[in-house]
Amino acid sequence: MKKIAVLLMGCGGVGRHLLQHIASCRSLHAKMGVQLRVVGVCDSKSLVAPMDVLKEELNDELLSEVCRIKSSGLALSKLGALEKGGYRVFNASELSRETEEIAKLLGKSAGLAVVDCSASMETIEILMKAVDLGCCVVLANKKPLTSTLEHYDKLALHPRFIRHESTVGAGLPVIASLNRIISSGDPVHRIVGSLSGTLGYVMSELEDGKPLSQVVQAAKTLGYTEPDPRDDLSGMDVARKGLILARLLGKRIIMDSIKIESMYPEEMGPGLMSVDDFLHNGIVKLDQNIEERVKRASSNGCVLRYVCVIEGSSVQVGIREVPKDSPLGRLRGSDNIVEIYSRCYKEQPLVIQGAGAGNDTTAAGVLADIIDLQDLFH
Ligand SMILES: NC(=O)c1ccc[n+]([C@@H]2O[C@H](COP(=O)([O-])OP(=O)(O)OC[C@H]3O[C@@H](n4cnc5c(N)ncnc54)[C@H](OP(=O)(O)O)[C@@H]3O)[C@@H](O)[C@H]2O)c1
Ligand SMILES: *[C@@H]1O[C@H](CO)[C@@H](O)[C@H](O)[C@H]1NC(C)=O
Ligand SMILES: *[C@@H]1O[C@H](CO)[C@@H](O)[C@H](O)[C@H]1NC(C)=O
Repeated sequence: MKKIAVLLMGCGGVGRHLLQHIASCRSLHAKMGVQLRVVGVCDSKSLVAPMDVLKEELNDELLSEVCRIKSSGLALSKLGALEKGGYRVFNASELSRETEEIAKLLGKSAGLAVVDCSASMETIEILMKAVDLGCCVVLANKKPLTSTLEHYDKLALHPRFIRHESTVGAGLPVIASLNRIISSGDPVHRIVGSLSGTLGYVMSELEDGKPLSQVVQAAKTLGYTEPDPRDDLSGMDVARKGLILARLLGKRIIMDSIKIESMYPEEMGPGLMSVDDFLHNGIVKLDQNIEERVKRASSNGCVLRYVCVIEGSSVQVGIREVPKDSPLGRLRGSDNIVEIYSRCYKEQPLVIQGAGAGNDTTAAGVLADIIDLQDLFH
């Protein structure tokens, strides 16, 4: 039986689903000859680990207690209040040192997969150390990959040791497909993607003639948006995904060089207007302009989509007219879609489409990434 040691950073919606998937896939994985050993779970302030990471792991009962505590909004440190059977809880000041210690113990011997399901910029230091110590890295968190080129180069130094499928299109096999195309020497000329479920939903509702303000309100009510919908409307998240894809294609690009069209003007930004004010007074002022653009597109046989376009050395993010009768144009609802144009996929692109968000799907993508590393473990 191959044993894969896993250290999880981040125990939010995705991280908890991952722990649940790990527990529920035990017998499936056993049949495949692999066993996942969880040797650490962190939230932003604590780390829980077994007494001896070489011999022990956090059992499924404890992991389900971790999930219960985190989903009731408590800190992981609350585990400390339980009878401490066979595990240790470290506080914020010990967290990075102890994580490094685990990476040291396992990295170059049995191996360790350090899994980042946080939404933090701060995990990057630990990730870099983990890479140095011979660990594998699996990311759902986009931020480490969209930091400086120096950070990126370090993380991506050993391509066999890093997986980050869930950073783009959640569980959809976008990265894996691109990697296959790249490694076969098929040059990718262009990628066009609708990579935000929220903006996908918004654009397809606009197509039906509904006003932007109403559509965004509805999306918020349905729970499709971030608490502040401007986090989606700014296009920043799409730009991060675009940057990750562009870097995968070997382009030396940083976040600042991406042209991003925000769906709202600067004067309606979070620093200048409250969420309520934006939703009740701000956004209605944008209705007319966008309605005109929708009509103009329609008269050209097109629809509007909020897309990321990667071509040559440029990455652009914003609203584009796309033919109604194209994979992007036919997209409805909150699905993500990516069109890849290369020598082999010249006229008809390779198209990957499906749910591009959700804790369950994202966590499934992370789990598949971990299993994909099995050859590096014994
Ligand atoms: N949900 C989706 O549909 C989806 C899809 C694709 C990608 N993703 C990505 O997946 C990641 C996780 O998403 P989520 O929805 O699960 O986020 P979330 O619910 O906000 O959870 C984030 C978790 O990370 C922890 N954390 C924060 N800083 C940390 C640090 N420095 N070290 C270790 N842990 C830290 C938080 O701890 P506390 O509990 O102490 O705050 C929390 O447990 C994000 O990067 C997101 O962009 C999500
Ligand atoms: C994902 O998990 C978070 C945190 O538990 C929760 O607030 C959110 O509603 C979940 N999202 C979905 C789509 O289930
Ligand atoms: C963390 O724990 C250590 C050892 O138990 C203790 O010395 C330290 O004061 C704690 N730090 C914080 C911030 O609680």
